[in-house]
Amino acid sequence: MKIDNSNATLGTGPRPQTTLLVTETPIEPDLPYETHPLADLSVEALDEYDVLWMHCESALDDAARQRLAAVGGELTAFVADGGGLLLTHGAVEAAAELGIEAHEPDSVGRVDADETGFLVRRLFEDHPIFGGIDGLRPNGAPATDAVSVHYDSLHPNDADVLAARRDDGTDRPNLKSLLCWEVGDGRVVGVGHGLAALQTDVQETLLDNCLAYAAGEGSDPRTVGRSKGREEFEAMREAVPDANHRPAYHFTPPANWLNDPNGLVQWNGRYHLFYQYNPAGPFHDSIHWGHAVSDDLVHWEDEPIALAPDPDGPDAVGVWSGCFVDDEGTPSVMYTGGDDGDQLPCLARAEDDSLRTWTKAAENPLITEMPADVDVLQSIDWRAEFRDHCVWRTGETWYQIVGSGIEGEGGAALLFESEDLLEWEYCHPILTGDWRKTGPIWECPELLRFDEGSLLHVSDYSKVAYFSGEYDEAAKRFEPEDHGVLDHGVFYAPQSFAADDGRTLMFGWLKEDRDREAQWDAGWSGAMSLPRVVSLAADGTPEFSLPTELEALRETHHSFSDLTVSPDGTNPLADIEGDTLEVKMTVDARNVGEFGLVLRETPDGEERTVVRCKIRHREVVVDRSQSSNSDAAADSSDSMPLTLDEDGTFSLHLFLDRSVLELFTNDAQALTSRIYPTRPDSTGVGLYADDCEVTVRSLDVWELAATED
Ligand code: FRU
Repeated sequence: MKIDNSNATLGTGPRPQTTLLVTETPIEPDLPYETHPLADLSVEALDEYDVLWMHCESALDDAARQRLAAVGGELTAFVADGGGLLLTHGAVEAAAELGIEAHEPDSVGRVDADETGFLVRRLFEDHPIFGGIDGLRPNGAPATDAVSVHYDSLHPNDADVLAARRDDGTDRPNLKSLLCWEVGDGRVVGVGHGLAALQTDVQETLLDNCLAYAAGEGSDPRTVGRSKGREEFEAMREAVPDANHRPAYHFTPPANWLNDPNGLVQWNGRYHLFYQYNPAGPFHDSIHWGHAVSDDLVHWEDEPIALAPDPDGPDAVGVWSGCFVDDEGTPSVMYTGGDDGDQLPCLARAEDDSLRTWTKAAENPLITEMPADVDVLQSIDWRAEFRDHCVWRTGETWYQIVGSGIEGEGGAALLFESEDLLEWEYCHPILTGDWRKTGPIWECPELLRFDEGSLLHVSDYSKVAYFSGEYDEAAKRFEPEDHGVLDHGVFYAPQSFAADDGRTLMFGWLKEDRDREAQWDAGWSGAMSLPRVVSLAADGTPEFSLPTELEALRETHHSFSDLTVSPDGTNPLADIEGDTLEVKMTVDARNVGEFGLVLRETPDGEERTVVRCKIRHREVVVDRSQSSNSDAAADSSDSMPLTLDEDGTFSLHLFLDRSVLELFTNDAQALTSRIYPTRPDSTGVGLYADDCEVTVRSLDVWELAATED
């Protein structure tokens, strides 16, 4: 579906002929509209108007609510028959009163700012409501004393959020304040602030546009709402392309925000990837479970949102991370519900094998009391840091570990057991860390079992720490023998599942490494790693390989053997270019100082990312000091240790996907990095040697296909 914004210049068009302005009190300045007080609203006379504009300078009081309740049916019918309704400031609350929106806005108050304006979503920048208004941060206006209404932690159920707020030069993406609904044949527009005094051109244009749009002018972009299907998601992808940075073969959200992978499973042969998703924009808030499916781990198709916060439920603030559970054939998920200072386990069951429709258990939340014999860490936000789940069954007993932290000790994976997945009894931590080494809180703990031993990994806010050793089934405790870092870059909160063929496949969230404003401007944030096949070496070290399915991405192939790279500056890869590449090589590193690979280089060398293999220091460094001309992008180096095989060689396997760089050495050490070149000609590739000749025993470069454009 194509988004058609061809009619996007309403600001210059005529105003709707007939507008009835309904207010509680007269508003400034005088406007050329017939005005009635809300108390005198005569619904019989509404037919004469194209659009009704309801403005309230304060929150709705009881009298206003009663009046709205009395006329609500007729007003909704007026809109459903094709009428337009503009709700400004306090009147945005009327949407819930009229049944146009399932949720009340969650903040009604005065703006505490000298200057306030709009923060337009990239997804909607071409929406007719912004016709004649430039940029995502159009000029702000002095604050007024009028009430401001917005949805913050909640995401409205039925509306498109077109813009949030910007106060005193600061983006406030979570204050969702410009909304559109469709009701039957009519349109409703809600603007929570900034239209009281109409001091600026932007405000006047916006008002004209809102009235005209509500009256039915301008095409409707129809990317709308939050519970939509594949076509709408495709339209969203088209609306926020970000061609230089958005990965072409890594999974990314259709638009908006993605974090952790959740509920991973291969069910009836299909791979299901759920993920933490905010439909309100590219920032972390009002978290839902997004959903995508694949038959081959390479091509992913968007499914409708699987789980949404329930404003009256234990997950009102967010449906956070969780895992898949096969409850004797019933597909289920255990997730964390966030609500009012609590993070509590909840269960949902799928109603069909497509895993599209989920019913939350009536018993939610399942664990309401923190264990008495551990001092679970509190924080400003949470009565107890207690979230994320890994569930398994041994014999007839269900077990789960929950991520947490113990006061004064460190991150912990707390073990619970249950007979029915609903009633849980606390056991003890299977492992507690030292806060000085692996942080005070562990998120997303996962216990993986292999023939060679067990692997427990936890995300400690900065990195993914792993412990390898044995899980003692009798004592129900993890006995670590070794520990390390699963990935030395931005790979975070990974989750794994056993594929039908026995492979353990792991996905992780690849965080952005550019500032929040740049993420807002791009309109999307967060990528999923490639699936990694995880195993344990005989000595207990985790190892990674890439699923052979990914070879389907390979197109043009460049192959070299026994290639000599000299410090004379000749680049043997001068003929290759691209921003979606796979590189695989084995290097003879005896007597070598530094050798490396240059990626995303402009012809003049202004932008370039250098993978420096510093052999003497036994280190691989991703040097991002010249990766991007933009100040918004991080330019610090990422690094990981390098070990050489006994014969003095090492292997490097690398996937470049526009802003994503996934790097593996010896199939064991991993480093994922993010780069944001600004120039379209940042596509050069090179090899260099610093202080002596280097022999590359084998080198394969594939140009990879895009699965997303
Ligand atoms: C990890 C995490 C989890 C939490 C989720 C919220 O990135 O913070 O602990 O459940 O993300 O989105």
